[in-house]
Amino acid sequence: MTKFKSREELMQELINRTPESEKLWNEAQEFVPGGLLSVARKFKPYPFYTAKGKGAYIWDVDGNRYIDCSTAYGVLLLGHLPEVVFETASEAAKKALIYCTPHPGEIEYTRRLIECIPCAERILLCNSGTEATMQGARIMRSYTGKKRIAKFEGAYHGWHDYVQWNVIVNSDPKISGPVERPNPVSESDGIPSEVENTILILPFDESAFSLIEEYADELAGVMVEPVFGNGSLPVGKEFLESLQEICRTKDVLLMFDEVKTGFRMALGGAQEYWGVIPDLAAYGKVIGGGAPLGAVGTTKEIMNKVTQSEFSISVAGTYSGNPFSLSVGLAMLNYLVENKDTVYPELERKGNRLREGFNEYMKLKNLPASMTGIGSFFQTHMKPLPVIGPRDLGGQLEDALYDMQLFLRYYGVHVAWFHDGFISAAHSDQDIEDVLKAHIDAAENALAWHLVS
Ligand SMILES: Cc1ncc(COP(=O)(O)O)c(C=O)c1O
Repeated sequence: MTKFKSREELMQELINRTPESEKLWNEAQEFVPGGLLSVARKFKPYPFYTAKGKGAYIWDVDGNRYIDCSTAYGVLLLGHLPEVVFETASEAAKKALIYCTPHPGEIEYTRRLIECIPCAERILLCNSGTEATMQGARIMRSYTGKKRIAKFEGAYHGWHDYVQWNVIVNSDPKISGPVERPNPVSESDGIPSEVENTILILPFDESAFSLIEEYADELAGVMVEPVFGNGSLPVGKEFLESLQEICRTKDVLLMFDEVKTGFRMALGGAQEYWGVIPDLAAYGKVIGGGAPLGAVGTTKEIMNKVTQSEFSISVAGTYSGNPFSLSVGLAMLNYLVENKDTVYPELERKGNRLREGFNEYMKLKNLPASMTGIGSFFQTHMKPLPVIGPRDLGGQLEDALYDMQLFLRYYGVHVAWFHDGFISAAHSDQDIEDVLKAHIDAAENALAWHLVS
């Protein structure tokens, strides 16, 4: 067991190891609001500042090495600076970063995406997952002539006004509302309350289907994350099939948000993995190979209707389709096409080893901790299984979860604060064993402080 007697002692050790990061953190307070450019980069007592990354590892400015299980929130499917991407990026940067004119690379890149994505016959490019879900919402509204977009409670689709609702399930039922009919709860100041009338929050259970039916006349489309990033919770084939059926019956479009699952669960994403093909899908993360890139893919029929007569929906963006991102992204896609028969089974095998190793140990020791996920996704919870839907994320030993993350940092594993983790193709079997041991030790140590015997 640990030599630390309290959270304060453990935190002091982390502070002792990271004097340069502490200095930068203090300096950042003067320039960057709250010191952070994204809330997901938060860490206690402060985040480390990264100096470099290579393969499965990152190093902070104090020279500490971490096994990176955040992998830039799931961007780096091949780890940091894989040769194929690094070489292409260096060459691409010599040629051009941006033209803002059509160029041959956009045809090559969109053709590749269409070859890989089952639902896509046409592609729109943008620069992030947030832009992709925003454009997806617009396509669904334009195509159907209806105004509401439904999303599931607990799902994250980026940070624009139409989706930053009910991402974290509020533990107070007076705020979150009844399970079968969640209240819309905005996640950010500055979102007009009128937006509430253009969205619909669905529960992750069968009552979603009756809500879709009830609102069908107003409902343009349903967005679903095939794996809830928040909790690393797979939605599964059966639920997606039922969702598709009700959407089809009611003339509501179905959009998969494949920003995390695309090119991660399989080359063709969750739609290939579970064999359920949506009307449209949004992409980001892996498709840029580390450069900013987003995309929406859909059928010829849908895209033609919404882009008829000089674009009924506005298609714009200074950086959309820039040659640098497309070159890097294409190198990534080509690598995955060529190596799909090894990359995906390997990610799945390593993910299973990590999750099963953790869950078996916790069960054997009768400890209230578990790990969920699928393929290369994972997340730890301070409660036993089953953890199936976003509402199951409540009732955890929150203090133990907090301390577990401090211990993970102590053991040299980086997972974003209270977030999901990812395995990359750069993680070796030994890395996975090290990550597993770190998670077991971190969980045991944290629980020892908080379980009342
Ligand atoms: C499922 C999902 N959709 C959309 C987004 C937003 O993507 P971005 O951060 O590139 O704007 C994310 C980001 O984590 C995501 O996980």
